[in-house]
Amino acid sequence: MQLAERLDRLGTETAFAVSQAANDWASAGNRVYPFHLGDINLPTPGNIVDAMNAAIADGKTGYCPAAGIPALREALADDIGRGRGMELSGANIVVQPGGKPVITKFIQTLMNPGDGVLYPNPGYPIYESQIDYYGGRALPYRYHETEAGFGIDLEQLRELAPQARLLIYNNLQNPLGCESTPEEMAEIARIAIEHDLTVLSDEAYFEMRYSGTSTSIASLPGMAERTVILYTFSKKFAMTGWRLGCAAAPVPIAEQIAKINTNDESCTTHFVQSAGAEALRDPSGAAVLLAELERRRDAAVAGLAAVPGVSCATPESTFYLFPNVTAAVERMGLSSVSEFSTAALRQTGVSFCTRHHFGSAQPDETEHYIRLAYSGISADDIEAGLRALADWVGSA
Ligand SMILES: Cc1ncc(COP(=O)(O)O)c(C=O)c1O
Repeated sequence: MQLAERLDRLGTETAFAVSQAANDWASAGNRVYPFHLGDINLPTPGNIVDAMNAAIADGKTGYCPAAGIPALREALADDIGRGRGMELSGANIVVQPGGKPVITKFIQTLMNPGDGVLYPNPGYPIYESQIDYYGGRALPYRYHETEAGFGIDLEQLRELAPQARLLIYNNLQNPLGCESTPEEMAEIARIAIEHDLTVLSDEAYFEMRYSGTSTSIASLPGMAERTVILYTFSKKFAMTGWRLGCAAAPVPIAEQIAKINTNDESCTTHFVQSAGAEALRDPSGAAVLLAELERRRDAAVAGLAAVPGVSCATPESTFYLFPNVTAAVERMGLSSVSEFSTAALRQTGVSFCTRHHFGSAQPDETEHYIRLAYSGISADDIEAGLRALADWVGSA
């Protein structure tokens, strides 16, 4: 049997390998503190579950329109538009089984083989995988550490932009937990307009914030007509396994994405869409989730502050921390951050991803980073796990 050659170019979420190592360690009878996966161990709000059950009882179990049911498209246009100060209608919305499909459909709709695509590194690994798979030219742009967290290397972005046709921008950012300053976002919009780039604005974490308000690059002048927004219910409503999201796009792009829907999955599950409409009608459960995540963020930041050789900003959004562990790695006499993560799992049960799970390090990178997700672990376990990590590093 011969497999398609393009599969050699398809990447994956290498973070799943970290899960495997953590599961193996737990199966051998060891305690594991799971900071590795961006899943949420909190229940979906009850009104959403009830709406889904009612929709099934009501017979919403058949095919439905490829672009989504009108009630949900309208509700999403209203919600996404209101949150961003934009005028959107149902025609701009194409419902998807999750946020992730928007990445591949953006690329399939707008990228020809050989086209350059700018994307964040460190960043969500599916961008690079999909660019490579469809024969694009991957143009990673980097971040630098700042007082408040991380910022985009705008000089590098400006240098690479003439080679690009598309720009992928993830604000609020996984894995860095950072967000653009207004100046940074304005400069990115300037670059996009100057080089006529079409933009994917991955806003999977737009509502996952503990203070302040989020801004979408799509709302800046000249950007709505060149930007596709990735929206998902996964994080905001603890619905990762339900698979519900959408693309909010200029109508000509939305129509093409809907055509891809027809080819790929026909439609997103009808009764799940009905539940999504209820989530937007009464989103009060999202605030409860956010309050719990904020408690966990505070526990995680405080716990990390006690680990010698680790420094970390306090992000106001997402549920990720991306601490600099360079001094801790050196203190332990280890030569790489991968060795640090393997040893940490075995000595303390603390499981986390490293920088390398979010794209290849650029040649001049010298600092070591890890990523902790605090969405799938209780505040008590965060405290216990990070205390064990502090004791281990401290004893070296
Ligand atoms: C930056 C980013 N974009 C998109 C997604 C995909 O979200 P979904 O689970 O809704 O497909 C994720 C999920 O972790 C993410 O972190």
